[in-house]
Amino acid sequence: MARVWAVETWHVERGCEPLWIQSPRAVWITVRQPGSLSMVDAHRLGRVSVCRVVVLVSGGGSNLAALFDAAADPAYGVEIVAVGADRHGTGGVELACARGLHTFVERVSDYEDRADWDAALTAACAEHEPDLVVSAGFLKICGPRFLAEFGGRYLNTHNSLLPSFAGIHGPADALAYGVKLAGATLFVVDEGVDTGVILAQVAVPVEDDDDVDTLTERIKVAERAQLVDVVGRMAREGWTIEGRRARIGA
Ligand code: GRF
Repeated sequence: MARVWAVETWHVERGCEPLWIQSPRAVWITVRQPGSLSMVDAHRLGRVSVCRVVVLVSGGGSNLAALFDAAADPAYGVEIVAVGADRHGTGGVELACARGLHTFVERVSDYEDRADWDAALTAACAEHEPDLVVSAGFLKICGPRFLAEFGGRYLNTHNSLLPSFAGIHGPADALAYGVKLAGATLFVVDEGVDTGVILAQVAVPVEDDDDVDTLTERIKVAERAQLVDVVGRMAREGWTIEGRRARIGA
């Protein structure tokens, strides 16, 4: 993140201690000055640029399609620079190909061990110099190499209200448990399974006659809207994380 580093250096040279540099678009940088917090408009530094996003998929790519639609408007502040998958034949990669985007496929089975796959996936993403990596239905747990490179800026959208119903059967597990509210969670990926800091959640009702398909589809509609909204706001306004508390925007 060279341009953010440059802004940070600019402040350090002027005696300001950066509190948190976490704005990929570098619009707002929070710095600590003696006795106060001040917001510095990085526009003045001429360092504003669009947020580069790599999206990882394993399936149909409806979340990816929603991001594509949003990113078509330059005001959204996001450029999807590449789409990656963990298997061949995903709808998500097809969507990206149809738009002439860079794509890559890294299959675990093509590598000797998980660590090699992790390194290859990391390199494939890093090649596109993303500010954010978004897992939109990517059904793999990324390893330590990946998190060392993209930790704090690797997001995942999950189709349950975490911490309930982690794992790949979120809607089915919610239905089986008998909850009356289900939903989706956008979070920053950490070493655990669906345990990272929560950025946003959206709830939908569970209807009496729901089956897994109808509930899954209701969640997905709300999940897509949330993903588009929050990724855009993160790109344009930045975010801060203290402990487990995330705040988007200034
Ligand atoms: C999303 O609901 C996500 O939460 C889950 O898989 C779904 C991906 O759907 N892990 P799509 O491929 O974006 O249509």
